[in-house]
Amino acid sequence: MQNNPREQWGSKIGFILAAAGSAIGLGNIWRFPYLAGQNGGAAFIFVYILCVISIGIPVLIAEILIGRTAQKNPVGSFKALTNSKFYHGIGGMGVVAGFVILSFYSVVAGWTLGYLFEAVNGSLLSYDLAEEASNHFSVLTHDPLWNIGLLAAFMLLTMGIVYFGVQKGIELGSKIMMPLLFVLLIGLMIFGLTLDGASKGLDYLFNPDWSKINSDVILAALGQAFFSMSLGMGAMLTYGSYLTKKDNIPVSSIWIAFLDASVAIIAGICIFTVVFATGQNPDVGPSLIFRTLPVVFAKMPGGWYFAVFFFFALTLAALTSTVSLLEVVTAYFVDEKGWKRKNAVIVFGSLVTLVGIPSALSFNALENFRIFNKTFFDLTEFISSNLMLPLGGFFIAIFVGWLWGFEKVKQLVKEGAEKLFDKFPWVMGYWKIILRYVAPILIIIVLLYSIGII
Ligand code: TRP
Repeated sequence: MQNNPREQWGSKIGFILAAAGSAIGLGNIWRFPYLAGQNGGAAFIFVYILCVISIGIPVLIAEILIGRTAQKNPVGSFKALTNSKFYHGIGGMGVVAGFVILSFYSVVAGWTLGYLFEAVNGSLLSYDLAEEASNHFSVLTHDPLWNIGLLAAFMLLTMGIVYFGVQKGIELGSKIMMPLLFVLLIGLMIFGLTLDGASKGLDYLFNPDWSKINSDVILAALGQAFFSMSLGMGAMLTYGSYLTKKDNIPVSSIWIAFLDASVAIIAGICIFTVVFATGQNPDVGPSLIFRTLPVVFAKMPGGWYFAVFFFFALTLAALTSTVSLLEVVTAYFVDEKGWKRKNAVIVFGSLVTLVGIPSALSFNALENFRIFNKTFFDLTEFISSNLMLPLGGFFIAIFVGWLWGFEKVKQLVKEGAEKLFDKFPWVMGYWKIILRYVAPILIIIVLLYSIGII
């Protein structure tokens, strides 16, 4: 049914930037700081880094390897590699998870776009007290039309990029947007570091109070590592499917993880230097950046520029992530159902927008509509991030570690990475142990915990 030859990434760096673009997003700049703030700062960050290195990278390698070998979307890949209907279903769960994550993620992404507009027209600069900035956030999110309009606007941007395909859309977009994001964030970090009281923020971020580590912190950190690296639902698998055998998967994966974690830490420095310098509370939760940052933009010289830069950077970061989510759904309909890319983008982009509407209304009209005591937004986030992603990650690790045939897996992962494995032969054994035992066991513990069984 395939009408065109499958696209490939144009270059090695194009793939790394696109995959890093998927990984780096609201997860790093919005979710990571507020989780760190709620979980005690440095101790959480330490555990998070440990999770990225020990589990995140091995599972990332596994996901990309499946995609590169099968050259397909998540469902098509499992169909190509195994007869197990169960695993075809796991691929399907990934496509559904992509759809669901996109629906709520685009709501928050819409807020960043809304804040970008406010920054540009200068109204964001009129809140120099933390309370006023907080109130302003509540007023905005209480407006149903503001939420829905921005959700739709953000989805249109996403569809625009995926529409043009792998090289001309995703790769080109990422090549422009990612370096810009790094420059903007580093500029903001330098500014944050010059504030009076910045050292309190650094202390909070880098001086761990070990007594703060408990099971909640570990679980939040592992969940964040998965979410931030876009693992568990086939986004990285799909990006891997546009790779050739010449590409070095382990080294690319280390790069992706390194860039992803660095952006989270840099964003943490930007935000906590400001939070502490302006005497605010680090543990207010998901509204953290929207409530804290306007205060400093109002006070700082050149605040307008920084506000515009920051929300522009955040919008870009979110956009390269939403693109990867829509790409999974698109690739499925293109590979498996023979759809034209452009039609798949328009139909499913519009459907995601519709499904996102109840999430956009969860902060206003549907605030009191609860299922299992959660708003629609919280429920879709919980089901996708806390259930589907860990389940997907679990079965990916089991597949590559046990079911695929490890002798074959060894040959496949070495392609493009011969030197690495010659130089560091222990890497293979380590990877195998993580995939076979460590990752599945830890993921199961996280899963059981998040549904309240332990
Ligand atoms: N990783 C992205 C972020 O940190 C979000 C994201 C994109 C994602 N694609 C994903 C999360 C796939 C989980 C699975 O913002």
